[in-house]
Parts: sequence; C-alpha cells; structure tokens
Amino acid sequence: MEKGKMIYEGKAKQMFETENRNEIIVRFKDDATAFNAQKRGSFKLKGEMNNAITSLIYDYLGKKGINTHFIQKLNEREQLVKKVTIFPIEVVVRNYSAGSMAQRLGIEEGIKSPVTIFDLCYKNDALNDPLINDYHVLFLGLATQEELEEIYQLAEDINILLIDLFDKMNLRLVDFKIELGKTTDGKIVLADEISPDTCRLWDKDTLKKLDKDRFRRDLGEITEAYVEVYKRLLKALN
Ligand code: TMP
Ligand code: ASP
Repeated sequence: MEKGKMIYEGKAKQMFETENRNEIIVRFKDDATAFNAQKRGSFKLKGEMNNAITSLIYDYLGKKGINTHFIQKLNEREQLVKKVTIFPIEVVVRNYSAGSMAQRLGIEEGIKSPVTIFDLCYKNDALNDPLINDYHVLFLGLATQEELEEIYQLAEDINILLIDLFDKMNLRLVDFKIELGKTTDGKIVLADEISPDTCRLWDKDTLKKLDKDRFRRDLGEITEAYVEVYKRLLKALN
C-alpha cells in the first residue's frame, strides 16, 4: 500500500492519503495528551498497542454486525481504513461512575449505573470539547435527528458487545468514547479507535486501572498496562 501525503495530524494519530481516494492510512503515534493537551507525554509501544488492539476490536465488532471504517492492519503502527467524514461529536458511554462525570456530580468512582449513560461532547478544541445534549447537536447542525438515533443505537450495540468481550478478559468496562463517521456512500460507521486511550478498563478482581488514567493520573506502568490489555485480548479472541 503506497502512502501518500499526510492529510491530518492529531494528538495521537496521523492520516495519509492512499492511491484509492476512498481509503486512508492511519498511523498511531506514541504521543499521549490529556486535559486538552495541557499534559503531554510519550510512551514506548503505545502506538503499536493501540493499533493492534483497535484492529482486533474492530475486526471482532465487524464480525458481530457493527459497521466500522476498519479495512485491515498494515503493519505495527498503521492500519487502512475507509475515508469518512467524522461527526464532530464524541459519544461517551458509561456503565460505572468515573472521570468527569464523577467529578461533575460529586460522586465516587466505580458505582454501577442502573442504566447505560450516554454523554455527548462537541469536538472543538478551542472550547475544550464541551458536554452537549441532543438539542445542541440539532441546533449546531452536527447531525440530524435520524442520524443521532442511529448513532445512539450503534453506541448501545457496541457497548453490549464490548462489555462481553472485556468480561472475558477479566476487565470491567467502566466507560469509553467513540467517534462515528459517514462513508462516501452515506453509511454511518464506527471510526477512530477503541483502545486503552479511549476506554476505562479495570481489572475485575483488583480494580487496577489498565488504561490511559495511568498517564492522566501519573500512576506509572503505562506501557505495561497497554501490553497487558493486548495480551488478554489475544487470549480472549483465541
Ligand atoms: P471522561 O470521564 O473524562 O469524560 O472520559 C470518559 C471516557 O472517554 C473515558 O473512557 C476516556 C474517554 N475519553 C477519550 O477517549 N477522549 C477524551 O478526550 C476524553 C476527555 C475522554
Ligand atoms: N486526548 C484528550 C486530550 O489531549 C484528553 C484525554 O484523553 O484525557 O485532550
């Protein structure tokens, strides 16, 4: 696969054109940022682990009937995906209290929610990705009502599949963030990545955090945590 010119560089990934205008190459970097890039770092193997983990998860979800942008893993750091127009919305799905929700509501982390919680954030760095609701999405024209309904359904279906997959890895899926996109033929698909960067994953027995909170909160053993998730994933899928 010939890599063309770089069309986008984000905090953790780069994107390149290919000879097929409907496909792009995503390259996963070792860089990490948190708190809207106020905190920066880089750690060994992060790019490789996130590429490997995302590839396995998207392949798994695809086989379970979820439409994704994923085509194939190309090498340790790169994967080929369908070109999509990303909805400027981050969809956060929460099964337990944690992170910004726990802080905002003044509650402890780790309380199981009786219902699946969906938060929407407006992807806008200048505004620090503010929390928004369905009405704001419609007001800003970020998606139509029908698209939003499809997005919620996809997020719910993905949550059910991921809870089950991570359970097999002895991991509690506390919460995660997804991004959706529209392909050139108008289909809504899961895009971006699902990795320890975008999920909170706690060991079910020890409640040890095996995700990016180790970086956000200076807990150490970051690479080790990502490698551990990858190893458990390989085992669960075999
Ligand atoms: P939060 O509790 O900080 O809102 O995060 C909820 C989930 O979303 C958590 O699993 C981490 C993930 N997330 C991202 O993937 N990217 C982000 O920029 C943020 C803020 C959270
Ligand atoms: N990736 C986000 C940032 O740099 C935040 C996070 O994941 O905590 O702002």
